[in-house]
Amino acid sequence: MKFTFYGHSCFGVETGGVKILFDPFVTGNELAKGKVDVDSIEADYILVSHGHGDHVGDLVSIAKRTGAKVIAAYEVINWVQAQGVTNIHPINFGSAHFDFGKLHFLPAWHSSAMPGGEYGGNPGGFLVHGKEANFYYSGDTCLMMDMQLIPHYAKLDFAILPVGGNFTMDADDAVIAADFIKCGKIIGVHFDTFGYIKIDHNKAREIFNKTGKELILPEIGETITL
Ligand code: NI
Ligand code: MN
Repeated sequence: MKFTFYGHSCFGVETGGVKILFDPFVTGNELAKGKVDVDSIEADYILVSHGHGDHVGDLVSIAKRTGAKVIAAYEVINWVQAQGVTNIHPINFGSAHFDFGKLHFLPAWHSSAMPGGEYGGNPGGFLVHGKEANFYYSGDTCLMMDMQLIPHYAKLDFAILPVGGNFTMDADDAVIAADFIKCGKIIGVHFDTFGYIKIDHNKAREIFNKTGKELILPEIGETITL
C-alpha cells in the first residue's frame, strides 16, 4: 500500500484501490508551498481527527472538489455540512464499517475547536483495519495509557504518530507509544511546520533506533510504499 505525505499531519493512504486522505491542511503550510498541488490531491474518503485549523484547513475545498465522504466527529461534520459538504458520515468513539474495512475512532488527549471557534467535539485518532494492512493514526495527542488497548484490537503494520512536541508527543514520548501499540514502524508527523515544533531529525530517529524501532520522517510530497 502507498502512503503519501502532504506535510504536517496531512497524508493519503491508498489501500485496496481506495484513497483515504487524513487531516487536510496544505495551503496554510509554508513548508508545503511548491511541493504539493492541493488541487491534484485525490480522495474517496477524508478522515479528520479534530477541528483545529492545521487539520481542517483544506477540508471543505477538497471535499467539494473530490466528492469524497468526510468521516469525523459529529461536531466536525456539523461544521462541514454548514459549508455545503453533503457526503458525510458522523462518528464518535467506537467503530464502524466502510468499504476499505473496519474503522475505530479512538480517544486522543488534546482539544478540538473549529477555526471559527465552534465546538469541535472530542479529538481522536483512527485505527484502520484495512484489506492490505492495519494502521493507527493517533491524531494530536500526548502519550496516553489508552494506546495500550490497540494491540487488543489489531496487529499493526505501521502507525502514524506526532513527534513535534509542544502540542503533542515528542519523539521521546512517541517511542513509548510505539511500545504501547506494539509497532516497530512509525511514520512521524506534526513536526517542523511551526517554530514550536521544529525538531532535530537525526536525534528523533536515533531515539527510535536505540530501541530497535524505525522512525520514518517523510519528505513533503514523498510517497512511501509500505
Ligand atoms: Ni490540534
Ligand atoms: Mn495539530
